[in-house]
Amino acid sequence: MGQNIQIQPTGNLTGSVNIPGDKSISHRSIMLAGLANTPVKVTNFLHAADCWSTINCMRALGVSVDQDKEGALTVTGNGFYGLREPKNILDAGNSGTTIRLLTGLLGAQPFFSIITGDASLRKRPMARVITPLIQMGLHIVGREQSRYAPLAIHAAEQIRGIEYDMPVASAQVKSAILLAALYASSPTVLHETMPSRDHTERMFETFGIPVKRVGNSIILEPVKQLQAPEHINVPGDISSAAFWLIAASIIPNSQLVLHNVGINPTRTGILDILQQMGADITVTNERWSGREPVADLVVRSAKLKGVTVEAEIIPRLIDEIPILAVAASFAQGQTIIKGAEELRVKETDRLKAISLELGKMGARITETADGLIIDGSQSLHAALCHSHDDHRMAMALAIAGLAARGVEIEEADCVKISYPDFFAVLADLSSGLTGGKQ
Ligand code: S3P
Repeated sequence: MGQNIQIQPTGNLTGSVNIPGDKSISHRSIMLAGLANTPVKVTNFLHAADCWSTINCMRALGVSVDQDKEGALTVTGNGFYGLREPKNILDAGNSGTTIRLLTGLLGAQPFFSIITGDASLRKRPMARVITPLIQMGLHIVGREQSRYAPLAIHAAEQIRGIEYDMPVASAQVKSAILLAALYASSPTVLHETMPSRDHTERMFETFGIPVKRVGNSIILEPVKQLQAPEHINVPGDISSAAFWLIAASIIPNSQLVLHNVGINPTRTGILDILQQMGADITVTNERWSGREPVADLVVRSAKLKGVTVEAEIIPRLIDEIPILAVAASFAQGQTIIKGAEELRVKETDRLKAISLELGKMGARITETADGLIIDGSQSLHAALCHSHDDHRMAMALAIAGLAARGVEIEEADCVKISYPDFFAVLADLSSGLTGGKQ
């Protein structure tokens, strides 16, 4: 059983936060570095349970990953054709990115493997990756007519490039296809309806793999080897920064400086929506971390107003909707979130979970088939809430409780999935200290 945590309102938040490494980029750095001929040093890697699932899977495939005292990793692979057959079942834990991306990569290898995950991951849809990968010639089967993990994968006779219209905007599906496509005998062309996060494409370029982008389409030629960089520095995760952006916005007299936040335009939907809501956020010190743009963000309290969040922007803020619902609960007027049905197949059904749990605190929030309708008010009360064992739910509820009259969260230790220091940083900021390791 997970641990409960009590959050008490402590007044304004001041200080600065070193934002931990981006989860999506951390996964990709290990996967690509594991296919290189030369060692790659990875700094500001996110040491959280999901990214460690990827490390453990890559280790089981023969890649060596060493960690120094500062947490920097050195990844030493055996080259583009150097992965080895794992001796046991691979465990992706709670991580959708690990299982989906590795399914594409494993399907292109000349050996047998099985990959599975925890109870939540085994309920999440896998047909979306298996369908296009089978079209490429890969051999993958899974439980319940290949809808769910565990997935069993064995060597393909031939891997063909495909031209594929992506039915859902999903970076995990796109990335699984692109990883398999590296090993194909012909080019792959993907068409997206709405652009999903493009960290895989940028990471490919970092490893010397050309990626052609035309409008919402991606064209990838197969390769025979990678040109690895010596060093990758992972930018901070805007999805983790989002909790502080909203906490400081809704708790009066707050001011926070968030250091080293990734501002890749495929991820900054939350900044656009918060700005429309009237938030006071300044983007400063813009710079590059490899091929990813980063900046420091300064956020001050502001009176937020309700907005309509249209389907088109959802892929750019998909993981921020639980905390956005908290912002909306404290805003003046109504917020409507549309086209967010993908939230129903995340670590939990986040539309259902956030309506239920914020409802326990007195929020006026209604679940629709594809989104939420939230009538803002300032009057949330203390309650006993449940995280649904979902890290982003636990953190969103913590901020709601901090801004209202407190909250007790059941199974709050799931924050270890993406932000193990979250509660420690929260305690520091409530007393005006710097939060997060340098
Ligand atoms: C991710 C893609 C998104 C996101 C997830 C991480 C990635 O999932 O929600 O947290 O690293 O590619 P989908 O591809 O299912 O939208």
